[in-house]
Amino acid sequence: MAKYIINGGARLEGSVAVECAKNAYLPILASTILCEHGDITLYKAPRFTDVINMCAILERLGIAVKHENGVLRINAESANARFVPVEVAKLLRSSIFTLGALLGRFKRARVAYPGGCDIGLRPIDIHLKGLKDMGVKITESHGILNCDATALHGGTITLDFASVGATENLVLCAVLGRERVVIQNCAREPEIVDMCNFLNKMGARIYGAGTDSIEIEPVSRLVGTEYTPIGDRIIAGTYLIAAAITHGEIEVSGVNPAIFASLIDKLRVSGCLLRVKSDKIYLKSPKTLKSVGLIETQVYPGFPTDLQAQLLTLETVSRGSCVVHENIFESRFKFVPELIKMGARVRVRGLSAFVDGVEGLSGAEVYAKDLRGGASLVLAGLCANGYTIVNDIFHIERGYQDLDIRLNELGADIRREAGA
Ligand code: UD1
Repeated sequence: MAKYIINGGARLEGSVAVECAKNAYLPILASTILCEHGDITLYKAPRFTDVINMCAILERLGIAVKHENGVLRINAESANARFVPVEVAKLLRSSIFTLGALLGRFKRARVAYPGGCDIGLRPIDIHLKGLKDMGVKITESHGILNCDATALHGGTITLDFASVGATENLVLCAVLGRERVVIQNCAREPEIVDMCNFLNKMGARIYGAGTDSIEIEPVSRLVGTEYTPIGDRIIAGTYLIAAAITHGEIEVSGVNPAIFASLIDKLRVSGCLLRVKSDKIYLKSPKTLKSVGLIETQVYPGFPTDLQAQLLTLETVSRGSCVVHENIFESRFKFVPELIKMGARVRVRGLSAFVDGVEGLSGAEVYAKDLRGGASLVLAGLCANGYTIVNDIFHIERGYQDLDIRLNELGADIRREAGA
């Protein structure tokens, strides 16, 4: 397995542009299934493993996908398969988006249960209940969902919880439906807005994305278009924290800072100086970081669960104590025992972690357990004394591209060693 070897202690300095958001790209790729007419061009395609795997799933469905110099050219006119088997569905959580899109296009689909990061139970009951409320008949056999949407109808669907994935799946299923659908108590994440903007650019009529109620007026067809998805707020946040934890100075561009205001607020409390423009953000870290006191993950626009591990890691070397409540996923502290190997003082009690800042961390051999927790171990390695080896970085590469190259450009000393 590939690993990162980090010689800690270098102060990060310089500028970095972030890739397009993984969590926007993936549902947008699934949306292309719905397009029966013309070519789709998606710019700034990131080489995250999740994106590569999603493209492979589209190809298995008979869709033409070409990747040239960061541009994805997709034509879904030839889509002919309605079955996503377990060997590809298990590669990523977002494979479940093919369910809504295939039902939208063909009104029938067979999709295996999805894989993805092991950060909690991650059921799909809210997706399935919403689909059933729209008239989809669903049976299950041997881990495969057999779905029939020939009697798809409209109405108002109220989600029990504002699930990001369920909101996206239901929109995908409803776009080419017969009747108007309103999804209430839906999620408001900016990546959902981006997917809806893309669908609308192809001819869909989706209103209200970004609020807690989305309305979908059905259309009979979608046509190809060109699109550049939004920048990745989680990667941007990770680089900002990398600069903060090394007492550095950074400008991060290619992303709208308004979509991660909750992190910016926390970094200001920690003593960092931040200057925000429309598509870039500058951070200068102080000599001594202060604890932010409390981190509580919430649905958007609250503090994102996908930045919890990175900010908790910053807290391990900040003056004072901090309490972290993880309210979204139940297994998001798996990186903590690895941080403790590096000298961090953290106690986990259920869904809360209690962090007492220490003077510094020391390098150790650690293991990435999931995507964001893995990235946090890299952050810890950047500020630690001596060498840190982060193993199993395949988790990290699901959602970060060339992390070692970008960090070295900022002055870090990190080397990627390929697996045997
Ligand atoms: C998406 C993001 C992920 C992010 C998360 C929360 C993508 C590809 N992934 O994941 O990076 O961490 O939003 O911002 O966009 N739940 C159920 N039943 C369901 C669906 C969800 O109980 O049917 C629960 C989940 O187990 C979890 C919570 O709801 O505890 C939030 O899940 P959800 O918002 O659906 O997140 P994802 O779409 O999986």
